[in-house]
Amino acid sequence: MYANLLRALALSRQFFCLWAHGPSFQSGGVAQLGERHVRNVEAAGSIPAISTIMIPRLCIQCVCFSWFFGFIAIRESFLSIRGVWNRPRDEVGRVPGHTTSIQWFHSWFGRYVRPFWRDRKAEEVYAISLKIIHSQRVRREIVTIGKGIGLGANDLFLAELIGLFHDIGRFEQFHLFHTFVDNSSVDHALLGRQVIEREGLLGDLPDRDASIVLDAIYYHNKLAIPSHFKGLRLLMSRLIRDADKLDILRVFHSLYEKGGGCATVNLDLPDSPAISRDVREDFLAGRVVDFKNVRSTTDFLVMRLSWLYDIYFPLTFKMIRDRGYIASMEDQLSQVCGKEEICNKVRQILSDEDR
Ligand SMILES: [Fe+2]
Repeated sequence: MYANLLRALALSRQFFCLWAHGPSFQSGGVAQLGERHVRNVEAAGSIPAISTIMIPRLCIQCVCFSWFFGFIAIRESFLSIRGVWNRPRDEVGRVPGHTTSIQWFHSWFGRYVRPFWRDRKAEEVYAISLKIIHSQRVRREIVTIGKGIGLGANDLFLAELIGLFHDIGRFEQFHLFHTFVDNSSVDHALLGRQVIEREGLLGDLPDRDASIVLDAIYYHNKLAIPSHFKGLRLLMSRLIRDADKLDILRVFHSLYEKGGGCATVNLDLPDSPAISRDVREDFLAGRVVDFKNVRSTTDFLVMRLSWLYDIYFPLTFKMIRDRGYIASMEDQLSQVCGKEEICNKVRQILSDEDR
């Protein structure tokens, strides 16, 4: 766009020179302009002659120049912006000067998800819109937590990218398999990494930053972060896991407040008041419940409670508690068989966090 503006400036300058000084000026430049003015002054012989002839002409020239330049600049800017917006999907991610702007990534996200909900059945629109809202909210949560722990501008930029794209695999997953259950379809984090690589989305980022983003996305849904992760890679992986859990708990909290869940959000799990043995053991031992052991909506509830063991930042824990998500989960346990042990453990987690 800047190249186009410079071209417009050069064009308008040539136009101005041609109009103001005739064709002879084109090959002469500033030196000839100076000589010409000196000759004009000498020919006129006096200052009043110069001001009466030159000043009105210069004023008209300035007005015309401004209008012409303004028109060209606006036209070139409009064409440049339209060119970026209309670029075909297979070219997105490779627009020089745009891929390092967070606004560009937002536009890309909007263009990418549009075909997955447009002209679809109501339940598909509902499922996809849940993931669009979740992606945007996780993006906001990760920035909030990042600012809370004092991240700098570049780290916040990477965190925002990770938040926005951590579930980008969900859209193709639902399109291909009509489910969000990874065990019966595909690992959505793996698919997300493949989508980002296939689209060349991070092509203009430094290699280290791109690999940190991809790793944080790939490991955001795994049981644990690899032990060899260090520094910024570890920090970003922790941030996305916290932000993701924070918003998933928000989804279930708001559904509970409205009077129940739905099959899509509950991953098509059957209702049952009992807790599976493996799930109970994991929770009481202070381990995050493995989703492969989850058999019912109650197991799923206990699994979400077990995420409290996997919250890294005190700020995230505070947000979870202050927003009433823990109280809401405790309330949901009221119908569960053998809830006392689980509730006692939750109280212990809360008191440990207070210390
Ligand atoms: Fe997520």
